[in-house]
Amino acid sequence: MSKKVLVLPGDGIGPEIVAEARKVLETINAQMSLGLELSEALVGGAAIDATGIPLPEATLTAAKEADAILLGAVGGPQWDTNPDFQIRPEKGLLGIRSQLGLFGNLRPAILYPQLAHASTLKPEVVSGLDILIVRELTGGIYFGQPRGYRTKEGGVREGFNTYVYDENEIRRIGRVAFEAARARGKKLCSVDKANVLEVTVLWREVMNELHAEYPDVELSHMYVDNAAMQLVRAPKQFDVVVTGNMFGDILSDAAAMLTGSIGMLPSASLDANNKGMYEPCHGSAPDIAGQGIANPLATILSAAMMLRYSLNAGEAADRIEAAVSKVLDQNLRTADIMSEGMRRVSTSEMGDAVVAALAE
Ligand code: IPM
Ligand code: MG
Repeated sequence: MSKKVLVLPGDGIGPEIVAEARKVLETINAQMSLGLELSEALVGGAAIDATGIPLPEATLTAAKEADAILLGAVGGPQWDTNPDFQIRPEKGLLGIRSQLGLFGNLRPAILYPQLAHASTLKPEVVSGLDILIVRELTGGIYFGQPRGYRTKEGGVREGFNTYVYDENEIRRIGRVAFEAARARGKKLCSVDKANVLEVTVLWREVMNELHAEYPDVELSHMYVDNAAMQLVRAPKQFDVVVTGNMFGDILSDAAAMLTGSIGMLPSASLDANNKGMYEPCHGSAPDIAGQGIANPLATILSAAMMLRYSLNAGEAADRIEAAVSKVLDQNLRTADIMSEGMRRVSTSEMGDAVVAALAE
């Protein structure tokens, strides 16, 4: 049976890194007869330039029809000045997440032993690091109403957003996190700001209630400011972390950097049936776009996650991950993970090396 994969290159380095992930997917598709059918569509700034809006109807329809979606990245300075927030690249990404109900965002931060020295933290602080951040992705302050930007009496400008969760939204992401913790180190840390924000008082209450269903998982709570500090102080204390949309956005960047480079980290955004969109944790990096120096490994590893979670092809995912590990063993490094004695390669050379490793 064929499986439809929608590829959304997006902006900045997106097209370059996605091209490498496509090479890898096409190779494994041929090797293992996976029956993947790849097609592409526009999203983000690329879609604004071509159609005037960041999420064209054709893209949304294709996303709904696909079995899984692989995204590069969206955004860039040329679109940042539009006063109409609906015509920003990020709205394309947020639109797909919310319209497809992709509420469960899994962001693993794993340190490859080969890269222990690429981290800005001491090797003993990060070696063996294996954290999973579970971020709520379709609610919270990113989507809460009312929101807006207005001018008050007297010409004073005011911006406002609403941080809101209902208990059902908290419970469903809580379940994703407890299940994930159960399948790995059995420790879950829920991150909130319950000393200040009522919405997270509810968050904490619901996590405590859910805990009754998962007595085998150890549950702890941490305020987000402390969690940020603990992530850089002693990150190995964490196994699975669960948090809301905005805190998860921030903490996952911090966790990513513990591993040496945000250029290594994949992510999955899943609905209740494990249909999902897969994307690197990093952004569109407009400052290095078009130079052939971006690291394609996060996108390649996102493709592996896609095979495992949405396309029922766990063995193919294992093979891609092993191939990535092999190219690191061959001392090949893009600029972001370069260190002394290693061989620096371009974006496409890195993609080719993974393809070659798959063929061995
Ligand atoms: C992420 C990104 C997005 C987010 C942006 C591009 C809208 O930072 O996926 O972490 O804030 O969710
Ligand atoms: Mg982010």
